[in-house]
Amino acid sequence: MAQTGNAAPGPSRIGVFDSGVGGLTVLAALHLRLPRATLIYAADSAYAPYGERDPAYVQQRSLELTRFLLAHGAQAIVVACNTATALAIAELRRIWPHVPFIGIEPAIKPALIMTHGRPVGVLATPATLSSPRFQALLQAHAGRAEVLIQPCPGLAEAIETRGPESVETTTLVRRFCAPLRKADCATVVLGCTHYPLIAKALHDALDTPARLVNLVDPAHAVAAQTERILSTLLPANAAPTQERTLQAWTNGDPIALERIAKACGLDDMIVHPMPAT
Ligand code: DGL
Repeated sequence: MAQTGNAAPGPSRIGVFDSGVGGLTVLAALHLRLPRATLIYAADSAYAPYGERDPAYVQQRSLELTRFLLAHGAQAIVVACNTATALAIAELRRIWPHVPFIGIEPAIKPALIMTHGRPVGVLATPATLSSPRFQALLQAHAGRAEVLIQPCPGLAEAIETRGPESVETTTLVRRFCAPLRKADCATVVLGCTHYPLIAKALHDALDTPARLVNLVDPAHAVAAQTERILSTLLPANAAPTQERTLQAWTNGDPIALERIAKACGLDDMIVHPMPAT
């Protein structure tokens, strides 16, 4: 894979990847939590979506992106993709046992705590929901609670290629939310990092005159966990880096990535082309 950019590690240089624009929702939480860290983001848009692929495909793409980020000096990798966490993070940890990997998973446990016995909905990709890792998570936390699992085939792809506010996206949102609304879910877990980008459409589809739905996005918990892990790696007095703190590489449309980055409050991000390998 061709590599561009400065590979010299700064005092804290965190690699972040996703199948496309969705991981920017995690990048924004990381930037808020760790404003002095250099964050380097890889968007695999040319190979998205991951959510309807088999594990071998997602593992191979995750390996490529991890190699790319490590070659650019990343000291830790945030897998800002539920699908890649479910299907590939164990393999990444096996291959790079000395690199800290932080993953993201549907926040079922916090959702059950906040919902006080009411039904909880989970929206995620088919690959995440059918993974053994998700099944184990569900078994560990759901108990006798009513948890409605809603696979959303095509939704991340619609957000990625048509945009968060497109007719295609809104139509899918309505279709996937209908069963959760019918079951009166007051809390809905966003089990894909693309979905916080459509929070408004989700509220439009799920809220009723009687209640506003809680959308549970674990991005801030992932940022807090990354901070904890970094604090064990780096000296407390590490000097802030002099380089641009937000850089991204995409093998898709750089303009689309920039547009979503701005919507996430990441105004000063530099976007580079990444060769599709
Ligand atoms: N954003 C991703 C996730 O969190 C992947 C979506 C996709 O590529 O299908 O699952």
